[in-house]
Amino acid sequence: MKRLAGKVSVITGSGLGMGKAMALLFAEEGSAVVVADINQQAVEQVVSEITAKGQRAIGVVANVAIQEDIDKMISAAIKEFGSLDVLVNNAGIIDDFKTVGELEDELWDRIIAVNLAGPFKASRAAIRIMEKQKSGGVIVNNASVGGLFGARGGAAYVTSKHGLIGLTRNIAATYGLYGNIRANVIAPGGVETSIQNTIKAPSELGMKALNDTGFAPLGKPEQLAYVALFLASDESSFINGEVITADGGWTAR
Ligand SMILES: NC(=O)c1ccc[n+]([C@@H]2O[C@H](COP(=O)([O-])OP(=O)(O)OC[C@H]3O[C@@H](n4cnc5c(N)ncnc54)[C@H](O)[C@@H]3O)[C@@H](O)[C@H]2O)c1
Repeated sequence: MKRLAGKVSVITGSGLGMGKAMALLFAEEGSAVVVADINQQAVEQVVSEITAKGQRAIGVVANVAIQEDIDKMISAAIKEFGSLDVLVNNAGIIDDFKTVGELEDELWDRIIAVNLAGPFKASRAAIRIMEKQKSGGVIVNNASVGGLFGARGGAAYVTSKHGLIGLTRNIAATYGLYGNIRANVIAPGGVETSIQNTIKAPSELGMKALNDTGFAPLGKPEQLAYVALFLASDESSFINGEVITADGGWTAR
């Protein structure tokens, strides 16, 4: 039996990186997948890779910072596949490790809009559907070890990811404990994806703080996709409100 047989999953930021690996793995494991991303070309590529194998996926070009796009992406799951069982809030952006004194409002606002307000709005839209479903639903958030410690990103990134962990725990403590919607969050360490290419002018102080955290092993997107698969599947049915760190041991010392 496939691990997500008959499920319908929406995965944000699934055009590239960890989100793409999750989309491919979830489809392989029997889920219909809504591939949602701002990058249209990447969306089309992932959908064609999945459908070429006879598995189910549709693409939605969606920016998680825009409410209408979130509505479009969530309603696509219902329209196309008839339910919404799993939401993965994976889309996220980084902030050049800018410290508070160096951080302009524009960057702060953008990071919070994508990394924190986006998952809140997508979770709200999903929960309003999932709470009416007998089978409930599952939310998996992709935070970061930057959601647990201070020097694994800039001030905006670290704040957004700490917030995402708080959001996860609130959903778990309400809809999970008193309902049928579980929420858990992954805290990846360094993972080999294209996000590194978006570092433009890193802060000297931010990088010094990061480098002082010592050697960080680099994981592969597929290794994180397996964590998301476990949290999305019924195998984790008694896990609710938990942070799963997957960093190869970076934060173990
Ligand atoms: N790579 C790492 O080292 C690392 C470590 C810890 C946590 N993370 C987190 O993992 C998640 C995925 O990161 P990744 O490394 O796979 O990045 P990536 O840049 O390879 O992929 C991110 C995808 O999200 C999309 N995206 C960006 N902004 C979006 C928006 N507003 N709406 C919809 N889609 C959007 C991009 O187009 C891209 O396809 C992020 O939340 C990131 O913060 C990454």
